[in-house]
Amino acid sequence: MKHYKDIAGDGGSGIVAQVTEKLTALNERMGNVKYKIAVMSGKGGVGKSTITVSIAANMAQNGFKVGILDADLNGPSIPKMMGIENACLTTDHEGVRPPTGAFGIKIMSTELFMAARERPINWDGPSSTYSWISVIEATALRELIADTAWGELDFLFIDLPPVLARFRDLTQLLGKLDGVIIVTIPTGIANQIVVKSINAVKEMGAPIIGVVENMKGFACVHCGKENRPYEDVGMADSFEWLGAPCIGQVPFDKRLLEMSNAGLSGTGTNAPHLHGVFEDINKKVLAFLGKPASGQIDQ
Ligand SMILES: Nc1ncnc2c1ncn2[C@@H]1O[C@H](COP(=O)(O)OP(=O)(O)OP(=O)(O)O)[C@@H](O)[C@H]1O
Ligand SMILES: [Mg+2]
Repeated sequence: MKHYKDIAGDGGSGIVAQVTEKLTALNERMGNVKYKIAVMSGKGGVGKSTITVSIAANMAQNGFKVGILDADLNGPSIPKMMGIENACLTTDHEGVRPPTGAFGIKIMSTELFMAARERPINWDGPSSTYSWISVIEATALRELIADTAWGELDFLFIDLPPVLARFRDLTQLLGKLDGVIIVTIPTGIANQIVVKSINAVKEMGAPIIGVVENMKGFACVHCGKENRPYEDVGMADSFEWLGAPCIGQVPFDKRLLEMSNAGLSGTGTNAPHLHGVFEDINKKVLAFLGKPASGQIDQ
């Protein structure tokens, strides 16, 4: 297939210069971010956004500078989970200022651009133009990354929607991710889809940090007995052979549900035992990156 850049003078469109300028801006912006980590699954509703927020909060609690990019353009949930969905966006000479949530976490999401929260995003252009939705979405993603004044960050966590296409867009835009965290739940069907995602991530050359198994079980509020709401498919080692070790198991806990409804508070997930769960996951993330467990990161 021919591209504009293959045509001498790009057919007079000027598109090559425009795209180059945008990509240069994106690279400059991302040059100030030490680690870009995607959270994905391939399966919907398994807790990707919840895990993103919880991991990000724990990193920020440990003194790291953290941002979250909500790459779920059509079903964004990070602003609500971070309790900043009413934040107003401002712009200045550096770009769009990302609102900050608990622990100073910087957030960018299409949700922050919506005039009415109950309305879906509408990608339609004028009826006289014809564009591939996927191209429009990839462009929107690029703008969310490149036009946001992220400043210096230790970590940018990227919350992905279930569709693998967005992961492809992301890797094409960023060139290199520093790590991918994959979320699953203990069901055969989720794990069947997650295997495909793991293989897709590997094929795209992104390094896999590991798999988080969410909603592993829950303690009865009355007797404390451990229950398993899903199948007990024994995920812990099932992806190890693919090079995707288990880096944590998160129980079903109503306080996580409350967090996603009311927004992350200044005390994190409000559940001390969950603090330990995410602390352990992040130790594995930091070990994967070869970094110390807290404070500033020098590269
Ligand atoms: N460990 C948990 N305990 C209790 N509730 C949870 C847990 N993990 C996620 N949830 C709840 O499950 C619902 C789905 O979680 P979430 O939105 O994070 O999933 P998702 O994978 O990001 O979904 P989507 O595919 O739509 O992006 C939310 O209401 C969330 O609060
Ligand atoms: Mg989500």
